[in-house]
Amino acid sequence: MLDYHNLQRLMSYYRCAMLEIETKFRVLDEEYSLQHDRNPINSIKSRLKQMPSILEKLERKNLSMSIESIEENLNDIAGIRVVCSFIEDVYTLAKALLKQDDIVLIKAKDYIVNPKQNGYRSLHLIVAVPIFLQDEKRMMKVEIQLRTIAMDCWASLEHQLYYKKDISFTQQTAQELLECARLSVELDERMDKLRRESGI
Ligand code: GTP
Ligand code: MG
Repeated sequence: MLDYHNLQRLMSYYRCAMLEIETKFRVLDEEYSLQHDRNPINSIKSRLKQMPSILEKLERKNLSMSIESIEENLNDIAGIRVVCSFIEDVYTLAKALLKQDDIVLIKAKDYIVNPKQNGYRSLHLIVAVPIFLQDEKRMMKVEIQLRTIAMDCWASLEHQLYYKKDISFTQQTAQELLECARLSVELDERMDKLRRESGI
């Protein structure tokens, strides 16, 4: 059974882990902007999964309703989305984060090199980060999505369309979304070319 107080405590640990990761990215952005006079990060959005979504996911995946089960099985309670200026920044930031000695990589999915069938692109990392409490150190999982502004634009709008449409997706809608994804790839490539030409 899920005890309310234990659950509140767990959510607070996830919130702390999210803050840790967010700070790490802000530090990297700060350092990079000093060195290169531009910011690799356009924006950061953090979110904690809401209780109804957690319960729905446990149920859908046939998992037991316990604190241990949540920690063990759900990787996306704490989520951070890092929207980057250029594709290169996505990989620079991911590499810089992963080489920090307190970060443990649990899973990486590169939907930029291998986009999803619908055209979705982003680099997904599941990491564990320590949070230091009064008497213990706890490793907490955080889901990180790194993407460019163009990838974020496509994903945000697709998300809205997808959710509004509920289930049925016509062939034509799918084609059109894929075409928009192709345009976003082209935009990223052309902007990256401009970046290289400007020598930054
Ligand atoms: P869940 O969907 O959370 O159960 O995780 P998963 O095991 O399918 O992992 P995946 O890394 O594929 O997706 C995790 C998250 O990435 C999702 O919750 C979305 O926020 C985002 N995402 C994945 N695929 C898509 C997509 O096709 N469109 C949009 N807009 N977002 C996506
Ligand atoms: Mg999710």
